[in-house]
Amino acid sequence: MAKRGRFITLEGIDGAGKSTHVAFIADALRARGFTVVATREPGGTPAAEQLRALVLAIPMRHDSEVLLMFAARGEHVADVIRPALERGDWVLCDRFTDATFAYQGGGHGVDATRIGTLAQWTHADCMPDTTILFDVPPDVSRARLAKAADEGRALDKFEREDAAFTRRVRDVYHARARAEPARFRIVDSTRPVAEVRAALAAIVAAL
Ligand code: TMP
Repeated sequence: MAKRGRFITLEGIDGAGKSTHVAFIADALRARGFTVVATREPGGTPAAEQLRALVLAIPMRHDSEVLLMFAARGEHVADVIRPALERGDWVLCDRFTDATFAYQGGGHGVDATRIGTLAQWTHADCMPDTTILFDVPPDVSRARLAKAADEGRALDKFEREDAAFTRRVRDVYHARARAEPARFRIVDSTRPVAEVRAALAAIVAAL
């Protein structure tokens, strides 16, 4: 692939606050003059959004979860991400393959080698250039999710997992950030929104 745009992904445990900041990051990139495609996983195409609805709601074998995540990802990369990068656009994607390593690998114990094989198959030519990891301790995440539930938001299958699951997911994110320090930027997402935005603005300015 003659890749000309940049591929930015956003990651973090549930309740880390990443969704609050997607529009802010997209606007900051646009202000720098880039055309930005903001998208999400699982999802981003009609087929992948259908797979999202299935995989976030229905209990299933952990291997099936991995395979469906990559089926959705294959659609998304082929129809949205790769064409955008080839056009020279910047892609801002709310979660990508790091989430499969963290949730299905760390959370559910699926062998990371298998996940890596599927990543190579699905998007060997299309790896994130930069990954912003929104980091909060599991107790902060759980408190935010409990508040959301109290306010009437229905939590999905992964948001209803226990504290140990959340800890394992976060541990894998941290391990991946340690293994690839040039790709990851870690943002302390326990701070007030204005401070998180200032940190994000500095990251975007340096991209
Ligand atoms: P979101 O709430 O950030 O949109 O993410 C949807 C949920 O899907 C979130 O709980 C994390 C989970 N997920 C996985 O378990 N594996 C994956 O590969 C992806 C992309 C998301």
